[in-house]
Amino acid sequence: MSAPTLSGPLVSRWWGCFPELRRDTLGFLLRCHAYGDVVKLPMGLVVELLLRQRDAAMYVLNHPADVRHVLVTNQDNYRKAPVAPAESRIFGQGVLHTEGEIHHRQRRLFLPFFHGNHVTTYADLIVGKADDLAAQWQDGTTIDIGQAMAHLTLAVIWRLLFGREVGSEATTIRETIAVGQSLIKLQYDSLLASLTPLWVPTKLHRQFTRGFRSIETMIRRLIDERRTATRQGHEDMLSLLFAATDAAGRPLSDEEIRDELMTFLLAGHETTANALAWTWLLLSQHQSVRERLTQEVTEVLGNRLPTAADVPRLRYTKMVWDESLRLYPPAWSLHTRVNHGEDRLPSGVVLPPGAWVFISPWSLHRNARWFPHPNRFDPERFSEESNRTRPPFSYIPFGAGGRRCLGESFAELEGLLILATMASTIRLRSIEGQTIQPEAGMTLRQNVPIRMTVQRVGSSEPHPAAV
Ligand code: HEM
Repeated sequence: MSAPTLSGPLVSRWWGCFPELRRDTLGFLLRCHAYGDVVKLPMGLVVELLLRQRDAAMYVLNHPADVRHVLVTNQDNYRKAPVAPAESRIFGQGVLHTEGEIHHRQRRLFLPFFHGNHVTTYADLIVGKADDLAAQWQDGTTIDIGQAMAHLTLAVIWRLLFGREVGSEATTIRETIAVGQSLIKLQYDSLLASLTPLWVPTKLHRQFTRGFRSIETMIRRLIDERRTATRQGHEDMLSLLFAATDAAGRPLSDEEIRDELMTFLLAGHETTANALAWTWLLLSQHQSVRERLTQEVTEVLGNRLPTAADVPRLRYTKMVWDESLRLYPPAWSLHTRVNHGEDRLPSGVVLPPGAWVFISPWSLHRNARWFPHPNRFDPERFSEESNRTRPPFSYIPFGAGGRRCLGESFAELEGLLILATMASTIRLRSIEGQTIQPEAGMTLRQNVPIRMTVQRVGSSEPHPAAV
């Protein structure tokens, strides 16, 4: 069978697809739908010279069957492509970036921790923190919902990792993540920036290094304290890592423990916060959906706070969560994969060895072939019936296969409980005149902060009193 001819947009001979991607990453990916199931994006002569690879190209997959093939069926033929230097500095040899046997071992360690039954033990913590936050907000207060959700999910993940409350560290962590986001974006957008070592003292490099050093110092201090304290009675991630051994049966080194903790600290709160911020925005823009969600929460909970046992009954809330993750998947792109050997995809396209395979939940989720009127917010797409008819692998906010998100059940539990807890006491209205657009950074963040006004349930119209 002859392979289909690939087409793609015209790109610069020297710089390949990078200028287009840099100008408008998200729009460019959507425009690529027009070129078929697999779109070839040459990376240009400069990258060909650097990689010493002729015809170096990225291949964007637009068909779910091809996505399944790369992520699941033939996943052993693929590894993650090298990442931006800042990302590699942050995550080290944590489970997000390792490959092969080491990666399998790490997953085997973490899977029971993130198993459904174990994560539900965090339900009361999540609900308590969400309820405390909502209680602090007066009627009419103006809040930055992105910041608020990030601080909330950070407080939760810190407890999960270290079994204690996050204190003044929270501000340093959030500020450093913001700097890290900017640097990673710059390194993805500019070849020069990605080739400049982190020790070159640019302003951003210095801020980044200083910030991450102080987070590392915090983490090291907590590791040291735990080493000298009694280890009994802790059920957090730190104790799991202390009890773990490597392939030779030796305990993990401080460096290995640091890398895992840093990985979960970042992967475990930034994404969920992002998803929640988009969900609150969508709810504020779609009154009938918000009303139906509030009605469900009232029917299921009455006047009490939710528990883990309520989650399966929050069906509509889950549909809203799923639809929000479709429109605004925090992981807008999976890590680029590179194949070892030539591979024929189900669409018939043959990928040469060393092809860079690009799979983007953002692009798949907004493809009109799988989601009619893709830009429309419609939670009904996730009714039981629609779930049955959707092509598998057209919806992959948590990835798929052997690298599927480890924290998926935790993220879902956290997202649904925070929505239900807060929706029962407050309404959030976005302030008029804001134009909020998604921006492709480390996560799919908002281009400007989302400012919202709080209305306490049971009170009349809000009267703005900014804080
Ligand atoms: C809405 C929230 C979240 C989303 C959308 C999300 C999305 C993803 C995606 C798409 C991947 C796969 C990346 C790839 O294949 O290239 C991933 C991996 C991962 N996620 Fe999440 N995630 C979320 C929350 C969490 C949470 C709460 C945790 C931990 C508490 C977590 C921990 C991880 C880890 C450790 C990996 C790496 C898995 C591996 O490579 O084996 N994530 N996540």
